[in-house]
Amino acid sequence: MTERDSQAPASHATTTGMTGGGFYNANSAPQWQAIEAVIPWLEEAAAGLPLEGDGPVGLADFGCSEGRNSIAVMTHVLKTLLPRTDRPVQTIHSDLPTNDFSKLFLSLRPDGASAFQSNRIFSAAVGGSMFDQLLPPASVHLATTFNAIGFLSERPVDVLPGYILPNGPVPIRENGFVSVEDRQTFSELAKQDVARFLKKRALELVPGGKLLLQVFGTTDTARTCDGIYDLLNDAVLDFVETGEISRQTYDRYYQPVYMRSLDELTAPLLESHYGAADLYSLDRKMAYEIAVPFNQAFEADGNLDRYVKDYVNFFRAFSEAVLRNALPDGSDREDLVNRIYARAESLLKAAPERYPFRYAAVAMLLTRAA
Ligand SMILES: C[S@@+](CC[C@H](N)C(=O)[O-])C[C@H]1O[C@@H](n2cnc3c(N)ncnc32)[C@H](O)[C@@H]1O
Repeated sequence: MTERDSQAPASHATTTGMTGGGFYNANSAPQWQAIEAVIPWLEEAAAGLPLEGDGPVGLADFGCSEGRNSIAVMTHVLKTLLPRTDRPVQTIHSDLPTNDFSKLFLSLRPDGASAFQSNRIFSAAVGGSMFDQLLPPASVHLATTFNAIGFLSERPVDVLPGYILPNGPVPIRENGFVSVEDRQTFSELAKQDVARFLKKRALELVPGGKLLLQVFGTTDTARTCDGIYDLLNDAVLDFVETGEISRQTYDRYYQPVYMRSLDELTAPLLESHYGAADLYSLDRKMAYEIAVPFNQAFEADGNLDRYVKDYVNFFRAFSEAVLRNALPDGSDREDLVNRIYARAESLLKAAPERYPFRYAAVAMLLTRAA
């Protein structure tokens, strides 16, 4: 464990970030599949960016983590953008100040030259919450965020006693509960977070600039939380039963992550009281589901050991920091964290059919009003 792993979240954030040291990069293939589905929108956005004037063209990605997917996104944008302009381009990769940026820096400039293979592309990393203004006024032409705005800006309730995620357990499992009132509180915060993000980005975007907002969520038939959080909840509860985790600690622990529907994503744009409706026009919106690589591999060859490893590492990469911070600080905390994920592996291995996982996402493409 590093010092970074045990520090408190920055303001307007509820996590310190993903598991670092290359772990998130190595375990985020499903997130890339979810991004890939909207690459055509990105290309369309890049083809329509307003490029008159001089100075750098700004591209900014918020919630970049260790950067593998963020750099791949920019590579696609640049393919369309570079032939359209001679201007220099600045790529900005932003995440929380507590994020582990080390792999991002190494990947952006391997061998002393830009990873984007052009000497008019300059890259920078910016630490800060995406719910704040982080970049100069009217300096960004295209802003993106992928698989990130589901991490809420604050913990709106102190305890969530029945389950570890505001969306609640998969209905047929009945291994926990979240009250209707609590669900409503999180749904409203999720809308306010989008509104706040839209308003801050509006300050940074040039008139006519584009904003692509994509995040894991829910469709009419799938929820990205089912399976993974049921498994983590069951694993944690096993330690509550043995007394290693107190009931009080369990009641206070929840992953401050919300799975939005498409209606919840677009509400701040359509309902004027959120204060963002006049700032953008809505070009595209979509709710969709992607095929999960570790499910496909398991279906193809039935290798249960690899499936269990890939499945647990996938959700460990984005849940570990919050889980660690929720446990009492002590010399055995790291060991407990490891044993909780090991317990999740054995539960999954014993009954993989109890924890089916699907990846649903929602997205919208906007244009900054002139
Ligand atoms: C699941 S990762 C997504 C990384 C990458 N965009 C991808 O799709 O693979 C979510 C990222 O959002 C970041 N994040 C969470 N809350 C944030 C906030 N308030 N401001 C900026 N980044 C935040 C986390 O630190 C993490 O790196």
